[in-house]
Amino acid sequence: MSYLKEFKKITTQSLQIMKDRDEKISMLTCYEYSMAKLLDAAGVDVMLVGDSASNVIAGHETTLPITLDQMIYHAQCVVRGTDRALVVVDLPFGSYQSNSEIALSSAIRIMKETGAHAVKLEGGQEVLESIKKIVKAGVPVMGHLGLTPQSIYQFGTYGVRAKEGAEADTLKKEALMLQEAGCFALVLEKIPAILAGEVSKSLRIPTIGIGAGVDCDGQVLVMHDMLGINTDFHPRFLRRYANLGEIIPQAVKQYVSDVKSKGFPNAEESY
Ligand code: KIV
Repeated sequence: MSYLKEFKKITTQSLQIMKDRDEKISMLTCYEYSMAKLLDAAGVDVMLVGDSASNVIAGHETTLPITLDQMIYHAQCVVRGTDRALVVVDLPFGSYQSNSEIALSSAIRIMKETGAHAVKLEGGQEVLESIKKIVKAGVPVMGHLGLTPQSIYQFGTYGVRAKEGAEADTLKKEALMLQEAGCFALVLEKIPAILAGEVSKSLRIPTIGIGAGVDCDGQVLVMHDMLGINTDFHPRFLRRYANLGEIIPQAVKQYVSDVKSKGFPNAEESY
């Protein structure tokens, strides 16, 4: 794995170099220390402390309930387990939409209290001023367009976005605006692959896709989905790389049975 040696620490500049060389960027969500250590050692370039923690950690139906304090706690845990990857933290719903001053103070809290390297926020034109202000304060910002889950009640569905011409045109324009506002990268979620390819080509900065085809400059998945922990979510874009949803219950059943049958602990496992 030569890329592990070359980039001892991933920075926003490393991601730009990867795009310029046509080397794909790997990103996964992560919410805690022990998994961060495993993901980091396996060579993941970017660890996203996603507000999907609201779903897969806290069990909420949407990403809306998670708070800034809770995101900060998850980010602190991930940062402690990470040596190499760039750690990006989602600004949660309600922590940036009101105005750019509030957005800046939320971003500053994340940077000061967690040791993370960047923040991510959802939206286009409506968040440009906030992005400019955060970038001006020296904080790297990742944008997020397409299916932006914090707006789920406006969309009404988790279906593919920007299938129609007008929404696709707006997305293309907003991608350029986010780049000009100073974003170092952009997540494109659940949009047609052809559109994502066009946007990726038109931008200088890298795009990271989820359900947006192979022509994005990198890919991101939610860790619990790709490891098969979260078994009742199977959208077309998701590839499962493990089936921990079966392996973990098998191990736990064996443990329960060993305890009940007095097979655990044995003499070597006792003092
Ligand atoms: O919170 C999250 O997991 C995300 C990814 C889906 C990009 O924002």
